[in-house]
Amino acid sequence: MIDLLVKHAALVDGRDDMSIIVNGDRITDVLPGFDAPAAKTIDANGMLVSPPFVDAHFHMDATLSYGLPRVNQSGTLLEGIALWGELKPQLTFDALVERALAYCDWAVAKGLLAVRTHVDICDERLLAVEALLHVQKRVKPYLDLQLVTFPQDGILRWKDSKGNATAINLLRKALELGAEVVGGIPHFERTMSEGAKSVKLLCEEAAKRGLRVDMHCDETDDPMSRHIETLAYETQRLGLQGRVNGSHLTSMHSMDNYYVSKLIALMREAGVSAVANPLINITIQGRHDTYPKRRGMTRVPELMAAGIDVAFGHDCVMDPWYSLGSGDMLEVAHMGLHVAQMTGQDAMRQCFDAVTKTPAKILGLEGYGVEKDCYADFVLLQARDPIEAIRTRATRLAVVRRGKVIAETAPNTATLMLPNRPGTTDFLLKR
Ligand code: FE2
Repeated sequence: MIDLLVKHAALVDGRDDMSIIVNGDRITDVLPGFDAPAAKTIDANGMLVSPPFVDAHFHMDATLSYGLPRVNQSGTLLEGIALWGELKPQLTFDALVERALAYCDWAVAKGLLAVRTHVDICDERLLAVEALLHVQKRVKPYLDLQLVTFPQDGILRWKDSKGNATAINLLRKALELGAEVVGGIPHFERTMSEGAKSVKLLCEEAAKRGLRVDMHCDETDDPMSRHIETLAYETQRLGLQGRVNGSHLTSMHSMDNYYVSKLIALMREAGVSAVANPLINITIQGRHDTYPKRRGMTRVPELMAAGIDVAFGHDCVMDPWYSLGSGDMLEVAHMGLHVAQMTGQDAMRQCFDAVTKTPAKILGLEGYGVEKDCYADFVLLQARDPIEAIRTRATRLAVVRRGKVIAETAPNTATLMLPNRPGTTDFLLKR
């Protein structure tokens, strides 16, 4: 007998009345209109079954710390970094683990089952790294957590308590402990040339170890911040094509158009992907502007049109940089769609892909997708297609991981007490 059968499902590619057959932890077939006895059957009733949401850019060491030790008054990136520096000495292993686990509960409830988190390594104790490696093991049955060694205070700029620049040693130690991706923050180094030097150093470290790279890159409104050019160059030089991601890339918003026309081609040639973080970019960038105020998000549709993989990340939830958020990648896609003005039908579907299959590719997830032989990981949404899912930030009716239901939410249905009108509404257009 089949272990789990999902009937009458719509799929992201537009097929409907599909049946998803699950045995053990895998999808063993996806067939139109199929029915058979199963140990458990879910009637999707025409609603969308999507592969799980994936967040390609997050900071789980800082999440849910909002207000500790104080709130970011200016709302700027730099005050956020300073605030995190104040909080760091007060962090404990238990508090880091507890906050991260609580966030993973939210994530699972929202169908977010894979997260790439940057973890600050500018700490002689490497406390956050140890805590998140512990969390990674704890959540493994239900959520894939990928750790990036992130030198928040600059791999070259940061000094330890004795005044020595030892961040590279800490980064190497974090990789040896089990972190899988090399991070960086070139725009925070002391000079442009030091930033470029940091990109070279970190890419060489990744190449030597056969690892992926994901850098906070040019998270600034300064159009002259061009570390993405160096990142693309080093990717090409070291043969890292397809394994390097530039996160944020907000300076591209303000760059000269002629220069961007060269840059995008360089990124494409190097196979560098991009992650925009719309909720954070729209609130943090442009803070030094009067009016008009820049949006600050990177050039998402232009990068996509050039064939570059672009994902949307959540980046922050209730931390020194951002006071809101709930682990809802549809909220992230909704904001990305608006900020990038991606309102065409295909463009809206691309925004859905930017929080599902594109970040899955960037993370290098195996067995991802609602297809035969993939892991039986998927989300039943209260929406019939990806556009409706973004519009309504659809309720996650059921979240399935490795063939087991791990979260459920009641449908979003309001009861109406109105004369000559229906008794309920679910916010879906009648079809
Ligand atoms: Fe970030």
